[in-house]
Amino acid sequence: MKAALATAYGSPDVIRIAEVPTPSPKNNEVLIRIHASAVNAADWRLRRANPWFVRLIFGLFKPRRAILGVVFAGEVVQTGDAVTQYTTGDRLFGWTSVMKLGGHAEYIALPEKGAFARMPERMSFTDAAAIPFGFGTAMAFLRKAKVGPGQQVLVYGASGAVGSAALQLAKHLGADVTGVCSTRNVNLVRSLGAVGVLDYTKDDLLAHRDRYDVVFETVGKLPFKDCLSLVKPGGTVILGSELPAQMLARQFAPKGNKKVKVVGGTVGESGADISQLAALWERNAIRPVIDRVLPLERIQEAHTLAESGRKVGNVVVTM
Ligand SMILES: NC(=O)c1ccc[n+]([C@@H]2O[C@H](COP(=O)([O-])OP(=O)(O)OC[C@H]3O[C@@H](n4cnc5c(N)ncnc54)[C@H](OP(=O)(O)O)[C@@H]3O)[C@@H](O)[C@H]2O)c1
Repeated sequence: MKAALATAYGSPDVIRIAEVPTPSPKNNEVLIRIHASAVNAADWRLRRANPWFVRLIFGLFKPRRAILGVVFAGEVVQTGDAVTQYTTGDRLFGWTSVMKLGGHAEYIALPEKGAFARMPERMSFTDAAAIPFGFGTAMAFLRKAKVGPGQQVLVYGASGAVGSAALQLAKHLGADVTGVCSTRNVNLVRSLGAVGVLDYTKDDLLAHRDRYDVVFETVGKLPFKDCLSLVKPGGTVILGSELPAQMLARQFAPKGNKKVKVVGGTVGESGADISQLAALWERNAIRPVIDRVLPLERIQEAHTLAESGRKVGNVVVTM
């Protein structure tokens, strides 16, 4: 099968397309013909070994797993003898898993109990590939923060994969959502259902002190002290993109006397959440934002865009 291999850490240039053996499903696995995947923050961070401790988990000198890709959309072409849930022809989408990776290839074998679900009939493989990373992450964080009806929620970085998903899901939960983005994305963010849009290149965010029940910082660009200023006393700050060094710095940062709950850490990879997202998609409650769709052969471009910090929503690769 054809796959995108990153056999060294480094720039997008380390990736090349090569022929590798097609996996055989074990007893409890399904073999999936992947039609689309996405290149997102997890992929470029693993490829760059950014942050450095990626090397401790994925290989000190070179990646132990050469095929990146934490999400997929595809169809079952073979099942192991013990598989009961799925059958040949089922269309599935979800996580390959951050530890296993392997989504940037034509086939993958995954345990039937993996973090994926059936695709709704009308859903395209492209849409399906663009949903799990952003929406899966956002859903888990919004649940942790107990976002609900009537709350005022600020999504910082509302044009990114996680941000555009967080905005739509928080709105679906009944919150009034304000999105923060730059000028070029104001119309998009409004079209996703934001009641207010703040342009971080023009507006003074700190004029909105103590206004939000929840501040969801999705891109790691708004200083923690500003998140604290914007949230109401007793509110919640979600730090969706906090790296370990920032986490450490935050522990020592002056917090003033405002009592605020801080939610962070890693989330994602729930099959139940993917099923729920499928149902929300069917009811038109969510739509993935897609910046670009590129064939697998152009995956270096997809990585460059994903790493730029400027992509709008998601970058999908098709096989
Ligand atoms: N904790 C976890 O488990 C977890 C899971 C998934 C992802 N993450 C992390 O979440 C982060 C976000 O991922 P993502 O894929 O959603 O990001 P992304 O799609 O790459 O974000 C790109 C967007 O960010 C906007 N942006 C750039 N600079 C900005 C700024 N200063 N202020 C506001 N918006 C800005 C850009 O719009 P403009 O160009 O218009 O500014 C662009 O649309 C990553 O760091 C990832 O590692 C964490």
